Amino acid sequence: MQTRKSVFCRALQILLVTCTLYFFYATVLEKAREASWSDAVSDFVRRSLSDGVFGHIGNRTLGFEHIYAIGLEERTDKRDFMALTTAVSGITVQWMDGVRPDELHEKSLPQGYNLTLMKPAAVGCWRAHMNALNDMLSNGYSTALILEDDADWDVTLRAQLQEFAVGLHALKGTRKISKEAPYGVDWDVLWIGGCASGPNSSETDFYAIPNDPTVPRTEHRGTWGGPLEQWKEQYPEYPEDSTRFVYRSAMGCCTYGYAVSKRGAQNVLMQLSVDHIEGAIDNAMSDLCGFHPNRTRIECYAPFPNLVGTYRRAGSAARDSDINVLDWDQVHGEEAWNLIYSTRMNIHRLVAGERTVYSQWDEDVPWSDREMNLDEFVYPRGHLVRG
Ligand SMILES: *[C@@H]1O[C@H](CO)[C@@H](O)[C@H](O)[C@H]1NC(C)=O
Ligand SMILES: *[C@@H]1O[C@H](CO)[C@@H](O)[C@H](O)[C@H]1NC(C)=O
Ligand SMILES: *[C@@H]1O[C@H](CO)[C@@H](O)[C@H](O)[C@H]1NC(C)=O
Ligand SMILES: *[C@@H]1O[C@H](CO)[C@@H](O)[C@H](O)[C@H]1NC(C)=O
Repeated sequence: MQTRKSVFCRALQILLVTCTLYFFYATVLEKAREASWSDAVSDFVRRSLSDGVFGHIGNRTLGFEHIYAIGLEERTDKRDFMALTTAVSGITVQWMDGVRPDELHEKSLPQGYNLTLMKPAAVGCWRAHMNALNDMLSNGYSTALILEDDADWDVTLRAQLQEFAVGLHALKGTRKISKEAPYGVDWDVLWIGGCASGPNSSETDFYAIPNDPTVPRTEHRGTWGGPLEQWKEQYPEYPEDSTRFVYRSAMGCCTYGYAVSKRGAQNVLMQLSVDHIEGAIDNAMSDLCGFHPNRTRIECYAPFPNLVGTYRRAGSAARDSDINVLDWDQVHGEEAWNLIYSTRMNIHRLVAGERTVYSQWDEDVPWSDREMNLDEFVYPRGHLVRG
């Protein structure tokens, strides 16, 4: 009797669960699938599926399968600071050693590189990035984020990345987002950190995140490119000073941080190592994102301003770069490019466990406060704009 009753209960339970699942599927998921990517849908997706679908952006590799940090082994100063910055951000990186000029072999150079014509340190930089792509493919990672050792980011990086992912899916019209791939895998490069990016001059679609408290005013930025003049004229509701844009990018510069999919790693390694390369790695990758007559175009997306900046500690400029030889006598203050609440500039507070961080700019602007509480911060939502 007891057993028959519990069997009956179990059957009823299963029926109930099935009905609930069916109801959920029929109403919620079907609605998500059929609706187009209007504002309402990005809101809908965010509200109902946010934690589930974008939850992995909260993990130690920011929702990518792997993160590399590239840097010369002897730059222990940069490794220490990167170790601290990733520790307070809850990020795990694998170091990929930078390549010194004396480690380069003439025979291994791709067509187009010549050590008497190209700066050997720049060739070493290209090689280190190729080594990261090579390692990624050897390990079968579906996506990887590649950072340089002086990369810096806003303390709110995960919230920014989640909205960037919403924008990316909105632009691509993604139908189904998988928890295992919060950014998807059907793009080549997500150029989230650099000193420039820009859409093709005929581009009409973008995702705009207005009143973004983590966007520095244009006069504080060390970037170029960004939204097209015609966008600015047509959509004055998205002022350049306070809006973050996301778009398909046709150019880029500087490789502070970029993500590649497996497809992207294959395309970049093929075109910039197996085929040929002229000039620095970032300029060559920029050619791939744009329309270069001798290249096959890849699919690149970028936020503007970028999300991963670069940090320079106060003192001599000679310490900044391992590629360019800069003057020891030339000094500058502490710099974190294109960031408001720089993780590195707030490192003492973050290590002390404080929940209040400060903007690097001693000013209050309408969309961003000088002081920010990590527990109260809410990242704004964006809108898809289709021209
Ligand atoms: C590199 O360029 C120099 C100067 O143009 C030339 O003399 C040399 O033969 C080149 N080396 C290779 C391996 O092509
Ligand atoms: C983070 O999430 C991504 C996407 O699901 C996954 O590929 C990666 O393995 C996760 N990383 C960690 C450290 O769990
Ligand atoms: C913009 O895209 C068009 C194709 O849509 C292409 O023909 C043109 O060369 C591109 N412009 C630039 C500046 O790359
Ligand atoms: C494309 O490649 C050809 C042959 O290698 C070369 O002559 C030409 O200058 C290249 N064009 C550009 C724009 O780089």
